[in-house]
Amino acid sequence: MPPPILERLSALGDETRSRILALLERSEFTVTELATVLQASQPTVSRHLKTLAAEGWVEARADGRNRHYRMTPSLDEPARALWSIVRAEIGESGIYAADAERARPVLEQRRLRSAEFFASEAGRWDETRARLFGSAAGMTAMLGLVHADWVVADLGVGTGSLAEALAPFAARVIGVDRSAEMLAAAEHRLNRYHNVELRRGDLEELPVADGEVDLAVLGLVLHYVVDPPAVLAEANRVLRPGGRLLLVDMRRHDRGTAYEEMGHVWPGFEDERVEAWLDDAGFDAVRVVPLPPDPEAQGPLLFLASAVKR
Ligand SMILES: C[S@@+](CC[C@H](N)C(=O)[O-])C[C@H]1O[C@@H](n2cnc3c(N)ncnc32)[C@H](O)[C@@H]1O
Repeated sequence: MPPPILERLSALGDETRSRILALLERSEFTVTELATVLQASQPTVSRHLKTLAAEGWVEARADGRNRHYRMTPSLDEPARALWSIVRAEIGESGIYAADAERARPVLEQRRLRSAEFFASEAGRWDETRARLFGSAAGMTAMLGLVHADWVVADLGVGTGSLAEALAPFAARVIGVDRSAEMLAAAEHRLNRYHNVELRRGDLEELPVADGEVDLAVLGLVLHYVVDPPAVLAEANRVLRPGGRLLLVDMRRHDRGTAYEEMGHVWPGFEDERVEAWLDDAGFDAVRVVPLPPDPEAQGPLLFLASAVKR
């Protein structure tokens, strides 16, 4: 009969299971919560939990219809030593750090649901607001920061969702994209706005005049381009001095080639790289700020960079 520790090794040799353990070491989670944090399906999470439970790594407690999982508190010494080696290797980086960040709003939701806090209006308000007005209700108000006389360029306009949000607030919106199919979809969506103009062209050589624009937006597009510095320099060219750039994109992720078939060229970007590129492209007041995780989202975490043309 093998020593018991060898029987426990196989559960650890899987990335998803090590991610689950890293989460359960710190807090209890239900299958639904783990599926949200790991962006995996519930059956997948359940399967991994079964393996971890069979090898004694996790245990569950029932609470009404929910089962809350946690790392077994009474792990024997060899198992504890084994986990601390894995834990040290994992560190606080990459996919594990992203999991910890996604776990925060999930745990916060649970806190809000708990006992007396939930009985107060403060605890209910987020849910009520989302039910009545949608989860983006508060954020949409930020569009009021767009000046009524601004010309806005939506670079990589795609099917036009950003342009649609911006059109009621700006004097004009110019949407640029190289894909005829995307532009056709944007045309269909935006034809009721008479202040939106769609132009076909490359981000590396924008069909926009020097200084024509007050605000340029690059929404989830930079990770598709081969030469981001060239695109940022073009965005700078079309802005008037003092004009603003907003750039939303993926933070650097560790999902390997997971998105290659979607055409992603870059696995997200590090803050420092974006800051250096924007500085080189002729921008001041550069800020790169992580965006809060959306528990509904399946993809990598995002950042927002803002900058002002020198
Ligand atoms: C993922 S979509 C994003 C669309 C939109 N900004 C949004 O947030 O929903 C990226 C768009 O950028 C366009 N695109 C990618 N690289 C481009 C380039 N070098 N020149 C012009 N358009 C480009 C694609 O055709 C696609 O429509």
